[in-house]
Amino acid sequence: MAGRARGSVRALLAALLAPALLSLLASPARGRGGRGHGDWDPVKLPPLPPREDAARVARFVTNLCDWGALATASSLAEVRGRPFADVLSLSDGPPGAGRGQPYLYLSPLQLTAHNLQGNPHATLTMSLAQTDFCRKHGFDPQSPLCVHIILSGTVTKVNETEMDFAKHSLFTRHPDMETWPASHNWFFAKLNITNIWVLDYFGGPKIVTPEEYYNVTFQ
Ligand SMILES: *[C@@H]1O[C@H](CO)[C@@H](O)[C@H](O)[C@H]1NC(C)=O
Ligand SMILES: *[C@@H]1O[C@H](CO)[C@@H](O)[C@H](O)[C@H]1NC(C)=O
Ligand SMILES: *[C@@H]1O[C@H](CO)[C@@H](O)[C@H](O)[C@H]1NC(C)=O
Repeated sequence: MAGRARGSVRALLAALLAPALLSLLASPARGRGGRGHGDWDPVKLPPLPPREDAARVARFVTNLCDWGALATASSLAEVRGRPFADVLSLSDGPPGAGRGQPYLYLSPLQLTAHNLQGNPHATLTMSLAQTDFCRKHGFDPQSPLCVHIILSGTVTKVNETEMDFAKHSLFTRHPDMETWPASHNWFFAKLNITNIWVLDYFGGPKIVTPEEYYNVTFQ
């Protein structure tokens, strides 16, 4: 049982790694976002919103970050039911025009997608440590001053109506996605947020409701 599971994990890893290695060999690094790709220009990052407006701070972090760590409940035999985090590329919209909804581009071959099939609940964390903000100010990543947010909810497939915005949001920030192998059956998904915690100052996490979060507008 364990041996078979290990074998299938190995096969899964091989299936995942082979095309990745091939594409590394075959194509020059296209990077992600960056100038000319519609991502945030790192030297022109907008200023942090006032920390007392936690909902706005949360939306700011979500739009600034183009990846995060998503925790799911593992469906692997070895660690079944245990928390399992992986890094995923994401986007809630073009720079400055995010809608707050983190979109994902997933393949059934991914461990995370497999976990989500068994249990769609997931928790996503993103931090300004992923930008120059914390380094520039000398904030340690665990310090609440190095603003980070935790979003919990369920991951659902994106429907036809929302597909165009999800695709535009992701491909603008991650142009590499267009070249990901079609054989992996990539699909658009999103985190349907139910709970939000914002760590942006001392005194414990601030609770923001999804209503407050989606209510924020940017000029
Ligand atoms: C698709 O999803 C959006 C956002 O969740 C929703 O507003 C819309 O009604 C859905 N459309 C269909 C056809 O289900
Ligand atoms: C998103 O979550 C809300 C609150 O739990 C729920 O009412 C809604 O049906 C969910 N939407 C989808 C598309 O799963
Ligand atoms: C939504 O935003 C408006 C305008 O900023 C504000 O007056 C209102 O209180 C907000 N509502 C919620 C639920 O956050």
